Amino acid sequence: MKIKVINGPNLNMLGIREPGIYGNESYSALCDMISAHCEKAGVTVSLFQSNHEGALVDEIQSCFGEYDGIVINPGAYTHTSVAILDAVKAVGIPTVEVHISDVSAREDFRQISYIRAACKKTISGKGLSGYLEAIDFLLEQNNEN
Ligand code: DQA
Repeated sequence: MKIKVINGPNLNMLGIREPGIYGNESYSALCDMISAHCEKAGVTVSLFQSNHEGALVDEIQSCFGEYDGIVINPGAYTHTSVAILDAVKAVGIPTVEVHISDVSAREDFRQISYIRAACKKTISGKGLSGYLEAIDFLLEQNNEN
């Protein structure tokens, strides 16, 4: 199974940005954690991060016919981007939405998720381990089919 893990704006600043909300681990520590988990599970993984909406759309499109699952934390674009929602719908690849923080307990503007409508599952408020849970979920679904 091939999974793409996509992170949106400011997630490259993990460990520096608001550690009280997002923790002390860096983006590269997150990548290492995901890679180790996937290696153990026999999953081929590729990681991508961008601060640019169009680059995220391009990356999602490039998964078409190439990947069996997508794990995505669109960062702030979660709450604004119809383009990212449309890209996930366009490729039709099973996708899980991940948020490190519990967005449901935060500001009103974080209560809207455009991408959620196209996702199989949303994992929020579980810290970095939410990404691993998302990978396990996609793996289970893949094994069932
Ligand atoms: C986030 C939550 C978003 O509201 C925020 O804009 C982010 C990160 C999370 O992982 O908790 O950048 O997606």
